[in-house]
Amino acid sequence: MLFPVILAGGHGSRLWPLSRQQHPKQFLPLLTPHLSMLQATLTRLKGLEIQTPLLICNEEHRFLAAEQVRQLPGSSAQIMLEPMGRNTAPALALAALYAEQQTACTSVPDKIEDTDAIILALPADHAITDVPAFQAAVIAALPLAKAGKLVTFGITPTHGETGYGYLHRGAPIANTTGFEVAEFVEKPDQDTANHYVADGHYYWNSGIFMFKARRYLEELVHFQPQVLAACEAALAKSERDLDFIRLNSAAFATCPNISVDYGVMEHTTQAAMVPLAAGWSDVGSWSALAQQLTPDTQGNTLRGDVLTEQVSNSLIVAEHRLVAALGVQDVVIIETKDAVLVAHKDHEQDVKQLVAKLEAEG
Ligand code: GDD
Ligand code: MG
Repeated sequence: MLFPVILAGGHGSRLWPLSRQQHPKQFLPLLTPHLSMLQATLTRLKGLEIQTPLLICNEEHRFLAAEQVRQLPGSSAQIMLEPMGRNTAPALALAALYAEQQTACTSVPDKIEDTDAIILALPADHAITDVPAFQAAVIAALPLAKAGKLVTFGITPTHGETGYGYLHRGAPIANTTGFEVAEFVEKPDQDTANHYVADGHYYWNSGIFMFKARRYLEELVHFQPQVLAACEAALAKSERDLDFIRLNSAAFATCPNISVDYGVMEHTTQAAMVPLAAGWSDVGSWSALAQQLTPDTQGNTLRGDVLTEQVSNSLIVAEHRLVAALGVQDVVIIETKDAVLVAHKDHEQDVKQLVAKLEAEG
């Protein structure tokens, strides 16, 4: 039984000011008109043999999430609400515990081989252009997950990105398209990242995972027992109504804040990797977004009421007013109703810090 889990609890602060705390990027139609990134993530699953997806997000986004699922014809999702963000290791612990519960309720005795709950963890804020290739990779990963591997999906790196995890490709795994992961390194420094790319045996971690729920819970017993204990309590004391599973706030507050990458993947000896060549991007910056939107011959990506003269290699978005730019290169200009960002492309990763400063100043 394959349980897709949509991780939608992040802030997406590098895409400020379009992406806001009240309206983070996964809920925005950044790439496809009328389809948010969350909706695109759900749509990408169509045709796969799956259980009802579990969508885990922050309580404050419950109406956005519910409305976006409702608007999508033929889709449904169980929505689980976190009272506060505790990163992805806990979110996946909750997913694994939930999937185990569901499987216990629905398993049919004569279909023993199908009773393993398998989690397919999907960030809600990624772009994937080749859906058949994505689905083929998911199907290729299934036997590995069933065999007890924690499967990652590896992207051939193009540059030394420091915001990603790196997978050191090990030996091929017989009768599959997968490989052992010799080493998993989350967010290395720039020199190390450059070295990995030059080496040729490293892949970017896409942030998509597949594993047996039970396997992941066993890893938590070894590496993150406090995460497991807090998530078990938060789920046991959760309140359920027709629309949402609301985790118990006091119990979840005691959970350590740690990502699956640092908390489990860097430590496990059971990681495997299936290569993913499906036009993946995590749309983690304005340039990454611009690339997805196909720039014009001057290298510009312009959206809304924008007038340019001698402008190149720039991204300009005008939401409410005319934006005119003259004689500039490599800039990002994002105009919204109440905030405007003007940045050089070299500094776009620093938008995150800018947002932190804004939040600190209230
Ligand atoms: N439910 C929930 N709760 N979801 C969360 C939380 C949380 O507390 N924190 C983050 N998420 C969601 C985000 O919305 C996103 O979809 C996904 O989990 C991954 O979190 P990010 O914060 O975006 O992680 P990252 O981009 O720094 O790193 C991860 O992704 C990279 C690829 O994009 C890692 O897995 C890296 O190894 C990987 O290379
Ligand atoms: Mg991310």
